[in-house]
Amino acid sequence: MLHMEGQFEFTYMTYFSITKMASVVHRILSRTIPSFSSIPASHLKAKKHICAALSSSHDDPLGIKNRSNSLAEHQKQQMARGLPKKRPVDGVKHVVVVASGKGGVGKSTTSVNLALGMLASKQSLHVGLLDADIYGPSIPKMMNLRGQPELTKESKMKPLVNFGVPCMSMGFLVEEGAPIVWRGLMVMSAVEKLLRQVAWGELDVLVIDMPPGTGDTQLSISQLIPISGAVIVTTPQDIALLDARRGTEMFRKVDVPVIGLIQNMSHYVCPKCDHKAYIFGHDGARDVAKEMDLELLGDVPLHIDMRETSDSGKPIVVSQPDNPQTIAYKTIAGRILDKLSLTKETTS
Ligand SMILES: Nc1ncnc2c1ncn2[C@@H]1O[C@H](COP(=O)(O)OP(=O)(O)O)[C@@H](O)[C@H]1O
Ligand SMILES: [Mg+2]
Repeated sequence: MLHMEGQFEFTYMTYFSITKMASVVHRILSRTIPSFSSIPASHLKAKKHICAALSSSHDDPLGIKNRSNSLAEHQKQQMARGLPKKRPVDGVKHVVVVASGKGGVGKSTTSVNLALGMLASKQSLHVGLLDADIYGPSIPKMMNLRGQPELTKESKMKPLVNFGVPCMSMGFLVEEGAPIVWRGLMVMSAVEKLLRQVAWGELDVLVIDMPPGTGDTQLSISQLIPISGAVIVTTPQDIALLDARRGTEMFRKVDVPVIGLIQNMSHYVCPKCDHKAYIFGHDGARDVAKEMDLELLGDVPLHIDMRETSDSGKPIVVSQPDNPQTIAYKTIAGRILDKLSLTKETTS
């Protein structure tokens, strides 16, 4: 496993070299024109003029484009030689990742209820759940599971099972509440172990609950295994939508198809009078979906039942089968199964 770390490192360098190009440009300017960095921030206009003059006097005055072109070419060649080919997880037909650019928007709640919603839509399916949030695992609590996984003869970890869904999480391997103080490469290695050193058995779908953001975990999973699709969870709030756009762009960049958006906390439902209030804004995700040519897979309202069932380890899809939120999850799960061509079979 360890020998892969260098390759990971290289790939992340590629990614970061692109995303951090702006700061590199600034550094190059500061180095090549010593007086550039000594211009005080209060004279930003002057800096802008210098940049404008440089670009108008020459198409590429510092040779940055040429440098980055040859660097990109070099990296492409290296990647073609060195990168491991994506390899499916043994026994797993489809991987669906549940992601968002932001924490606290309901990814874990969605992952749990989608996995259970898929089972409810088609009982013959085998669905597993992987908690890829190494620093903040939530699946053990939400699926009411604890304990250490046993090992098979082949020294693979047996997933813990509840409500018919085999689950794996870093939370099973460390004490509850213990902080994980790992750096990027260790996290990537752990993610790979959680994917490959687990006896998943035969699964039609493995749902992966991603950590927030567009960082190491998202990239390593995208590069290690074929992913059938990503589902992006967002709230209607501007700030969450911005992150949802970022998440979508990231998956598109690494050639992972985005199945669609889920608008969680679409509106608040008063448990006493059923009054609806659009506290995070109205239909923001619908607009973003349209703008980014994505399907809006469904809305899930903000409701106290959701929080209570989720936090008490009794997911709403199993504990309240007729609840409107349950119906929303089942509908979304059905849409995802349709996209994966896993034909739906209604049970009730
Ligand atoms: N639709 C909803 N209505 C009410 N509470 C929700 C809803 N979705 C999520 N929550 C609650 O919000 C909190 C954060 O959700 P979680 O799924 O852990 O988010 P994330 O995985 O994106 O960090 C949890 O306490 C969860 O129970
Ligand atoms: Mg989470």
